[in-house]
Amino acid sequence: INLTVASSGGNVTSPLLYGLMFEDINHSGDGGIYAELIQNRAFQGSTEHPSTLEPWAAIGNATLSLQNTSVPLSSALPVSINVAAASEKTKGTIGLSNPGWWGIDIQPQPYTGSFFALGSYKGKFTIKLKSALTSQVFASLSIPSSTQADKWVEHKFVLEPKIAAPNVNNTFTIEFESGQGSVNFNLISLFPPTYKGTPNGNRPELMAALKGLNPSFLRMPGGNNIEGDSYHYRWAWNETIGPLTSRPGRPGTWGYENTDGLGLIEYFNWCTDLEMEPLLAVWSGMYLGTKDVLSEAALAPYVNDTLNELEFLLGDASTPYGSLRASLGYPKPFELKYVEIGNEDNLEGGAGSYASYRFSMFFNAIHAKYPDITIISSTGDLTAVGDGSATDYHVYTLPDHFVANFDLWDNVPRTHKVLLGEYANVQYNIKDQPLAGVNWSAAKLEWPIWAGAISESIWSIGAERNGDVIIGQSYAPGFMNRNSYEWSPDLISFTADPAQTVLSTSYYAIELLSNARYNATVPITSDTGFGPAYWVAGVSEPGKYTFKTAIYNATSTVPFNIAFEGLSAGSKGTLTVLTAPDGLSSNTLVDGTVVDVVQKKVTELKASSAGSFTFELENYSVAVLTT
Ligand code: AHR
Repeated sequence: INLTVASSGGNVTSPLLYGLMFEDINHSGDGGIYAELIQNRAFQGSTEHPSTLEPWAAIGNATLSLQNTSVPLSSALPVSINVAAASEKTKGTIGLSNPGWWGIDIQPQPYTGSFFALGSYKGKFTIKLKSALTSQVFASLSIPSSTQADKWVEHKFVLEPKIAAPNVNNTFTIEFESGQGSVNFNLISLFPPTYKGTPNGNRPELMAALKGLNPSFLRMPGGNNIEGDSYHYRWAWNETIGPLTSRPGRPGTWGYENTDGLGLIEYFNWCTDLEMEPLLAVWSGMYLGTKDVLSEAALAPYVNDTLNELEFLLGDASTPYGSLRASLGYPKPFELKYVEIGNEDNLEGGAGSYASYRFSMFFNAIHAKYPDITIISSTGDLTAVGDGSATDYHVYTLPDHFVANFDLWDNVPRTHKVLLGEYANVQYNIKDQPLAGVNWSAAKLEWPIWAGAISESIWSIGAERNGDVIIGQSYAPGFMNRNSYEWSPDLISFTADPAQTVLSTSYYAIELLSNARYNATVPITSDTGFGPAYWVAGVSEPGKYTFKTAIYNATSTVPFNIAFEGLSAGSKGTLTVLTAPDGLSSNTLVDGTVVDVVQKKVTELKASSAGSFTFELENYSVAVLTT
């Protein structure tokens, strides 16, 4: 393949070209990136998922029960756990233990904890991190009880193990002496050090994995998870802010109760920590589970509520909601340039109402007050949205289909702006049906496969070629807790054990492409068409070229001969190539050990006497050449 790359004349590229999509699915938030170690810390429940004692266990002869005490901890957290001795006459140690989110990683580092208690107990509480399998205790601390019979009292502590536990089969326990009546506990919390020490923050190693992707935006808080499974259970911003005692939680759309500890401000802190642009999704008036769509009149208060949310984020402290934010410790307004109205409103019977009034009600209200915000519709439909707006296009598909759609954006009017807010290869190709789509009644891939990662890279290269139209792209879902998940494949899989984090084959391809950014594309002339090689090139400054390519379904190695305008013989280039043993290879977890099949090769190149770079790539390679 002979290519000549011009030094200018292409399109200016969106600075957000690669980013993240996040929603609480697969325990990616609670039990995932949100660093809270205690599972079911505040017995939150709803009609969808009533409060439960799971996974708490009794210590000694204690009896555990859920109670709605006459004095609740808060109106948001009315249910607590009562720990009572089976017999008040028998003295002994009783208490409760929690196994974490399928394990607790114990390291020699401070664990910051707290719980609220109610009762007449005047002795000590002993708090431990210990093995669930042996009698080994890694950290133990006794603190005096300050409980009162008619008032919830917070107890705070720091546990600091001296050594690491050999595995994550550990528990967190609170013990006390029986004989002075029962004690109620609520909001029992334990945090390891978080990423950058952010309060109520995120797991460091998962944040580091995200950082490796060089993401420019975070689309949150859904996905389906903003929409609500049934009436009243939309994601409500004002119930996710402030002290944890004022967050009731809600039934998420993925079968489990969300604590909302990871709330609106935490999402913005996450953006600050990873230097990402927030892309905020707001509820658009349809409940996903029941398919209830609000009428225009019923929707009006929710449009107003969205304006309140935006004032909370963007208003100065003289505004009512800006002052609420300031009172929570954030005097400076956040920045927000992108708001998406709903999620996939082209599906589930909501398209008609979305096109006729739901989108425009939100658009008009937000645009009038915040004309600089780009408002994104969720339908992926380039014609159904008004002037000055953009749309979010999702695609879950087969490798062949991604490759066939490489040029999807080449000829759309340049006024259209498109977010590729969710994409992933989710099933194998179907023999002799190159344009087949997903069969949603059949199983999806358990892990991303390498041919899928290559096809996604070709889709991404197609998006890069249209960086004036494409705002950005984000693989979805981003995370899966291997112990409890609803959706595979996922970009990053994890357990409680940081050593078991699997960065998928797709992760490595995105990492390569996203870390090689440029400001504008440049035209390429070629002596051959696309396939089996697909490519894009860009420049950041004169002479600093970035060339990207991916190879799909080649029958032999693919030779490249690339001349970059203005580069002379002897110019230097660096070629980074990712390959895997074959297209069906996956990065996985086998018997608790991470298997990583992706191979990376970096080669220093020199331009030939004719001033061009020559190299060969194997089938199923993704490569970046920088000069
Ligand atoms: O990423 C999983 C789900 O796929 C999202 O919640 C939804 O937007 C899409 O249908």
